[in-house]
Amino acid sequence: MRNLKNTISVTFFALILACLSPVFSGYAQAQAPVPDSPAIESQAQALLAKLTLEQKIELIGGVDNMYTRPMQVIGLPRFKMSDASVGVRTWGPTTAYAGGVALAATWDTEFSRKLGEALGKDSRARNVNFLLGPGGNIARSPIGGRNFEYLSEDPYLNSTLVVPFIEGVQSQGVIATVKHYALNNQEFNRHNASSDVDERTLREIYLPAFEAAVVKGHVDSVMNSYNLINGVHATQNEFLNNKVLKGEWGFNGVLMSDWDATYDAVAAANNGLDLEMPSPKFMNAKNLVPAVKSGSVKESTIDDKVLRLLRTELRYGFTSRPQFDSADSTFSLANRAVALQGALESITLLKNEGKLLPLDPAKIKTIAIIGPDAWPAVPGGGGSSEATPFESVSTVTGIANFLGPNVHVLYSRGLPEIVDVFRRTQWEGGVKVESFPSNDFTGTPATGTRRNIADWKPNEWAPADPTPRSIRYTASFKAASAGKYLLIAGASGEDGFKILVDGKQVLDQVRAEGSVPRYTSIDLTAGQTANLQADYLPRAAGSRFGFGFIYEPELVSADAKQFASLADVVVLAIGFNAPTEGEGHDRTFTLPFGQDALVEAIAAANPHTIVTLTGGGAMDTRRWLSKVPALLHTWYPGQEGGTAVAEVLFGKHNAEGKLPISLDTDWESSPSQPYYYGTPGADTPLHTIGENGKPLDYTVPHIKYGDKLMVGYRYWTTTGKHPLFPFGFGLSYTTFGFANLQAPAKAASGSTVPVSFDVTNTGSVAGVEVAELYVSDPSTKATRPERELKGFEKVQLAPGETKHLALNLDARAFSYWDETAKKWTIDPGKFVILVGDSSENTPLHADVMLN
Ligand code: BGC
Repeated sequence: MRNLKNTISVTFFALILACLSPVFSGYAQAQAPVPDSPAIESQAQALLAKLTLEQKIELIGGVDNMYTRPMQVIGLPRFKMSDASVGVRTWGPTTAYAGGVALAATWDTEFSRKLGEALGKDSRARNVNFLLGPGGNIARSPIGGRNFEYLSEDPYLNSTLVVPFIEGVQSQGVIATVKHYALNNQEFNRHNASSDVDERTLREIYLPAFEAAVVKGHVDSVMNSYNLINGVHATQNEFLNNKVLKGEWGFNGVLMSDWDATYDAVAAANNGLDLEMPSPKFMNAKNLVPAVKSGSVKESTIDDKVLRLLRTELRYGFTSRPQFDSADSTFSLANRAVALQGALESITLLKNEGKLLPLDPAKIKTIAIIGPDAWPAVPGGGGSSEATPFESVSTVTGIANFLGPNVHVLYSRGLPEIVDVFRRTQWEGGVKVESFPSNDFTGTPATGTRRNIADWKPNEWAPADPTPRSIRYTASFKAASAGKYLLIAGASGEDGFKILVDGKQVLDQVRAEGSVPRYTSIDLTAGQTANLQADYLPRAAGSRFGFGFIYEPELVSADAKQFASLADVVVLAIGFNAPTEGEGHDRTFTLPFGQDALVEAIAAANPHTIVTLTGGGAMDTRRWLSKVPALLHTWYPGQEGGTAVAEVLFGKHNAEGKLPISLDTDWESSPSQPYYYGTPGADTPLHTIGENGKPLDYTVPHIKYGDKLMVGYRYWTTTGKHPLFPFGFGLSYTTFGFANLQAPAKAASGSTVPVSFDVTNTGSVAGVEVAELYVSDPSTKATRPERELKGFEKVQLAPGETKHLALNLDARAFSYWDETAKKWTIDPGKFVILVGDSSENTPLHADVMLN
């Protein structure tokens, strides 16, 4: 009775508020878009009818970097955009979440919705109409520079997570933008490289997340990628944009370009692009009015683009309500809790020898927290997704807060900062600098001498500079002692360099492949002089280059070794960060310089060394993995990462993350490795007209996706080989059992097949398990991967508790794309349902005959 009374009074209060709301200026309740309707259609048509051709063309290009164009004659204001999936980051500090690959590691669809809602609220609190996320691309290769912004290596997992995310964002009255359509699976040469793929691979691996976003998630905006697909830029790709996206999937929203990813006005206009961002360099009146007059672009094509924009904006009510929602906060404690939940759910426990974890806080008097990623916090990777949190919790502060004042916390970075290596290198007589007015070290150089070269400002965005420049540095380094010296060099991801020591090339960066410093080890005798020549080709506007030597025995700081030996336990936080992994360049598979040596030195000083990895995926752990008892992948955990790490290490939160990607042992055995870079000899010339109307010629490297369907675990399970840790794997502080798989022995092809099974917590603490369901098609006529993920469910279980889970498999779960028939096809015959806790551990099997 009391409850009912409360409900009535709350409802009454809400009603009064709702009635009063119009009098509060700037007040707007979160409002999901209304569906398209004849009324919306006629409103959009009426607005269109008031526009001249020039005005229509004006509307299909952005303005001020992050807005759609306003149009006074129809009373249309400009609408605001923001990046993106890990935080609404464009307009100042924000909540930084565990997004992208970390979201995928949660395998939690409800959390994905919650994250989408939180981002929607963060957007409304900043007047943002378009959120430029989520990313839906496949993590094809561990070195792909933007994997951390995307989701997983599996199309089913991506599709399943992207839909509630989009629904969450859009439920708040904010347009979600799924990106980057399509095949942005590498960052090197991202404007010029062509991802060349056969249609079956495209349909089965690379498109499903976009298809689900459109067909199931009803996403209202899609962003084309920078790259070409089968030789044609995404923004002018008739097959992808008109045939598949707008035709087959019935996409009715806005297809926008990535920023400066438009390369041809007429081709883009005719092949599906609706909105050129951030400004109309190509789709402008100068180019398109004559094209319409000459008939090479139909006016109805322009009208369709304008109608898509107007229809979508009207459906969201952007013209009739303020986008600011006073129910939302710019600094939101509620969303801070969402950030913590994502971090907690995503941390993935990979190794826990001798049950070292969870740690008992009562047994710890001194803890050493060491490593470049221990402090400051590393909430996300670099580039346009990088969100600046109001406040973020590092591993050091998270653990210290958790343990309280009675435990000694000792911190050391453990390694020097790279610029310190560059600055401290003693060159004999300085470095000679020759700056040539050409791209090939020809012409008369300006010369000078500098003490050292330490211009590496890693986390700075600078546009490419077309002025021809090449710089040659020559210097001599005299070894004080005998032994190994690390030579380190770093440049902007877009720049190129080559370093020779005593005439022999020892380091290079040739394909915009990474601003992770490159390094190599060189043996020198005491007093030996190494003569160095560094040829540097700056592309970014500033010169961002540095190089130097460090004596390897002096790499790891004495403090770090001392602290490790004194402590009861060590947490060693290593991996990548925003400067070393981010948009615009790929990253290395090897860890940034010195980190392997750091783990070896610390593990030797303290056997209770727990390593935490930060990064978008697999990295090289071969030198030291067997020497440490515990390993966790923390991905990019967002602003609450340090708190989450502490709660997982000390068992306040049981580890529950599962790998959304296979962790390859080494880059050489990674399935995409042989096909990752442009196929030699396959480059093609591309002739186009630049934004200034002048002819533009460039070379297109063709990346032939020869790995086809064999991405990640599809490759490993089909070949019977094993990665370091398999897709879907993740330990818990408890154990789980699977039993009682039930599936019909026979079913009709195309019907929904019900499958059910039991999951039991067989351990002594509460925990969360992800039950993974794979389908195998042994009687197929086509070549298919040995197994494919087709269902999963996350379940919370008390010790000893069993839950019976039921999943339904639709026709797509059994189908492959038949290239000849050009449709999804099921070969009748035997299918095997496999259930377990990773792609390599599926204890339950059942056969289903489809006729
Ligand atoms: C990125 C997009 C981003 C856009 C706007 C581009 O560099 O590729 O993902 O949405 O910038 O910041």
